[in-house]
Amino acid sequence: MELILLGPPGAGKGTQSKLLETRYGVAQISTGDMLRAEVKAGTPIGLEAKSIMDAGKLVSDDILIRMIGERIKRPDCAKGFILDGFPRTVPQAEALDKLLHEQAVDLDAVIELKVDEAILVERISGRFSCAKCGAGYHDTFKQPKVKGVCDVCGSTAFTRRPDDKAETVHARLEAYNAQTAPILPYYNARKRLFTVDGMAEMDEVEAQIEEVLRGLGVAAA
Ligand code: AP5
Repeated sequence: MELILLGPPGAGKGTQSKLLETRYGVAQISTGDMLRAEVKAGTPIGLEAKSIMDAGKLVSDDILIRMIGERIKRPDCAKGFILDGFPRTVPQAEALDKLLHEQAVDLDAVIELKVDEAILVERISGRFSCAKCGAGYHDTFKQPKVKGVCDVCGSTAFTRRPDDKAETVHARLEAYNAQTAPILPYYNARKRLFTVDGMAEMDEVEAQIEEVLRGLGVAAA
């Protein structure tokens, strides 16, 4: 299965792609996570990306296309992948078409998670994660079962993303509307675009995505 999850910051791409990774046995590829790992490791890409990400802008197409080109050739992508955060511009979408063509792979679907902007700000500003294992939580929508203790690894240290501040969220939404939303007609013209209601409860969103995939004949692992 080759799938793209598309949507504005906070739409639930990360949440849903992790659920789908387990259910369909394919690799989840988050370009945001890849870039954050580069920043943490202090690599040349990380040094270039940090200030851009902190400002809520998009990192250059060249860097991202190179990163994805290498990533989708790794063995864990042999059964397919879910792209979370890529492509984010029309040139990235065109480059992805070329990469997939070179590997004789067909894109199954691009699933757009549609969510109102007011909700996105609430979702992002309440988000935090375990500093040790990365498990995701939310002040309102998903607290750990025991307050202050990670459900997955038991750690008591949590962290918030530097780009989740309210002012940066607005810059990220602007970048989405100006640079990423034009991808929607690109995939619609290729009959690959499906839209689901990202405002629904998490398990309901998951069910809607699975229905799209069933309709395309993609079976769970
Ligand atoms: P990235 O990490 O991709 O961030 P993003 O697209 O802004 O998306 P988020 O991770 O904020 O949101 P999400 O849609 O994954 O939502 P989530 O599931 O966490 O990119 C960060 C930066 O990296 C970019 O700004 C850019 O600088 C750079 N970058 C990355 N890729 C790039 C590219 N291709 N080109 C150029 N630059 C690039 O959910 C959010 C919260 O809501 C969570 O707390 C969750 O628990 C909650 N939630 C989720 N679903 C629901 C639901 N249905 N109901 C209630 N709450 C929910």
